[in-house]
Amino acid sequence: MVVLCIGDVVGEPGLRCAERLLGGLRRFYGADFVVANGENAEGTGITGRDAERLYVAGADVVTLGNHAFARREIAARLEDDPYLLRPANFTSRAPGRGWGVFDANGGRRVAVVNLMGRLFMDSNLDNPFFLADRILAEAGTPFVVVDFHAEATSEKAAFAYYVDGRVSAVFGTHTHVPTADAHVLPGGTGFITDVGMTGAEQSVLGIAPEASIARFVGELYGGARQAKGGTVLMGARFELDDKTGKCVSVERIEAR
Ligand SMILES: [Fe+2]
Repeated sequence: MVVLCIGDVVGEPGLRCAERLLGGLRRFYGADFVVANGENAEGTGITGRDAERLYVAGADVVTLGNHAFARREIAARLEDDPYLLRPANFTSRAPGRGWGVFDANGGRRVAVVNLMGRLFMDSNLDNPFFLADRILAEAGTPFVVVDFHAEATSEKAAFAYYVDGRVSAVFGTHTHVPTADAHVLPGGTGFITDVGMTGAEQSVLGIAPEASIARFVGELYGGARQAKGGTVLMGARFELDDKTGKCVSVERIEAR
């Protein structure tokens, strides 16, 4: 079983990049299932149309993060669309759901869980570690993939070791910068701290450099936030044992 996990798709350049590359990557890497983080499809937030574009591009499930509700109209979609997940540890008053079990090739079932870290993030979140325990008790399949959307590298790694042997793969998202630590933990969980992003390469996390610089130097900025130029798709390929669901190998993906 091969699962591709794609880093945060940022803006129109990211959507177009996914549309251009993801179908071919699915075939090239022999993917049975694809998860893409889409919380930045509108820069911040996502619309139903964006989610549909990602499904057509080749994503089976789209995960979100701290910007899940930046476009408020997504709330109704989250209630109706089981393939669009927001972090499971949002409070029970938030619309939508944070995990689900989905059909993959060969009659197999894959559980996808979206969680958010708490360090340097929103404080109004349940403990993702203990919530993961409860979700794993219910998942009912050995194939479990977690998008852990978090700022702190330490929290992502600690979470991966916490669920080691109980989850097939943990891929970090949110920082948009890929890390060079893809490996299989002792218990059989594949892990990478951050898979990176999908969008404009000459950018600050997908945003036009001028817009980002203006923010850091405290200037008003009236120009476009969307970066120009060539794009890159980043992610990771997890190969899972067909019987146990444990990770056999993990490698980073980068495509232009
Ligand atoms: Fe984020």
